[in-house]
Amino acid sequence: MDKISISPEWVFSPQPMYIIGTKNEDGSPNFCIITWLGFSFDGGPNIMMTIGGTKLTKTNILREKKFSANMITEDNLWLADYFGNTNGEDGEKNALPYGYEKGKTVDVPILNECHWSYECEVTKVVELDGAHLFLAAVKNIQIDKDYSGMDMKKIDLTKIRPAVYAPYNYFSIGEKLGEMGEWKSHL
Ligand SMILES: Cc1cc2nc3c(=O)[nH]c(=O)nc-3n(C[C@H](O)[C@H](O)[C@H](O)COP(=O)(O)O)c2cc1C
Repeated sequence: MDKISISPEWVFSPQPMYIIGTKNEDGSPNFCIITWLGFSFDGGPNIMMTIGGTKLTKTNILREKKFSANMITEDNLWLADYFGNTNGEDGEKNALPYGYEKGKTVDVPILNECHWSYECEVTKVVELDGAHLFLAAVKNIQIDKDYSGMDMKKIDLTKIRPAVYAPYNYFSIGEKLGEMGEWKSHL
């Protein structure tokens, strides 16, 4: 395969999409989208998340040291798009209807419209050159009751239907390609 180099400014990865829920100073909820987000494991599951510039979400997390990460799926994508294109500092995001409840373990707003939500407590904050990198421990996971029979060791993404981000577009996932370790039967 012949390859060419492109500028690092074009970095991207197929990014997971989450609606980040935080508590405002007066206790009301605020939601926005973060896609610079990944998971790691060190004694327990962690979320690594980068928030750039000045945002209400960042101010809230720096003060409260907690947030929820609510998975964006095909059915809540446009509500998420609204949250990600409006600034919390401009006032309450109430142009669209949605519901929320307090987390069961961490006092953070959990969005009713999302089927899979993480309740997180921040353990480390790294201040970068304008952005902040947050490391947070996952303290509880809330999932749609309809998923209660789901085999957690063989999660079927085609049922969850997560949205995937690649610069300035949203995608759905395609079909299942196969199972881990099956390589011999696919070549
Ligand atoms: C698809 C999408 C992905 C985004 N990903 C990020 C991200 O990874 N990090 C970030 O700092 N902002 C990201 N944003 C921008 C924030 O969601 C946006 O600035 C939002 O208005 C912040 O809301 P707030 O002011 O209520 O905190 C993204 C926005 C969209 C629409």
